[in-house]
Amino acid sequence: MNSKCDFSKQMEQKVQAVEAVLQEYLPKQKGYQSVIMEAMCYSLLAGGKRLRPLLMSETARLFGEHSLALKPFMAAIEMIHTYSLVHDDLPAMDNDEYRRGRKTTHVVYGENMGILAGDALLNYAFETAFRAFVMDPEESLTIGRALTVLGEKAGIYGMIGGQVIDVKETGREVSKEILDTIYELKTAALIEASMMIGAILGGASEEEVRMVEQIARNVGVAFQIQDDILDVTSTSEVLGKPVHSDEKNEKTTYVTLMGIEEAGRAVEELSEEAISLLHQLPEENHFLEQLLCQLIHRDR
Ligand code: IPE
Ligand code: IPE
Ligand code: MG
Ligand code: MG
Ligand code: MG
Repeated sequence: MNSKCDFSKQMEQKVQAVEAVLQEYLPKQKGYQSVIMEAMCYSLLAGGKRLRPLLMSETARLFGEHSLALKPFMAAIEMIHTYSLVHDDLPAMDNDEYRRGRKTTHVVYGENMGILAGDALLNYAFETAFRAFVMDPEESLTIGRALTVLGEKAGIYGMIGGQVIDVKETGREVSKEILDTIYELKTAALIEASMMIGAILGGASEEEVRMVEQIARNVGVAFQIQDDILDVTSTSEVLGKPVHSDEKNEKTTYVTLMGIEEAGRAVEELSEEAISLLHQLPEENHFLEQLLCQLIHRDR
């Protein structure tokens, strides 16, 4: 079997493992409020690449430790990411009607339930991550460090902060400096959280966690630039979400600032920087390296 084929096979198995973790931590549908659990699962189980939990578990594997706390954190990061998408698609935000190949949550359940389903996924992410304390009481300190990262990277100094600047600058020409800040926050922050939490639970030192943060920042910014490129060059069938959403919303992107070719070069450069930083760590995870390489030319 050649190595590309081998990679796809491993990828498939690892994504399935993430799906199993999500199934394990889904909220139970009960009570008069059961529509909210249904709406949460509607978006969560619609598919998606599951990149963030994958990066988390592969970074933990890089450092070798098998922590009991990993699974609840893998579920939690995907819940937070999914909530960010549910809210990003709302009429007051990007106003998009397709996500992960389905009608968006607010289209199916109404805007009120769309807002609440996002809130619920965010809160339930922390309820889920807190379960790690009970599963692994001896690791309370490590779990506390991981929770601190999760909270900060999702919040006003992280993803929410980035969405705020993105909204504030909509309809305006944005400088590259501000655009980079938007990407570092709205997209890279959750990728940083994923890899840093993997490192923390995997037993990395403080210094190694900082290094992983830098790697993830490059991966995250490259990921957003590629998302901008695909918004122009792909189709809604392949992406499972509308194309030309950025143009519709008058967003400045890397593509509007420097064109598709140069944006593509930025994706390559940032990814190569991430991979060379990864090589500086004494530990090795060949699959993780292949995953980062494969993201450069991803088509969805
Ligand atoms: C979409 O993220 C939002 C961005 C940060 C660009 P993904 O492209 O990872 O979306 P899913 O999880 O595969 O649906
Ligand atoms: C990603 O930006 C923002 C999030 C943090 C959810 P986009 O608005 O470009 O993401 P897509 O293209 O809708 O997935
Ligand atoms: Mg957006
Ligand atoms: Mg959007
Ligand atoms: Mg986009």
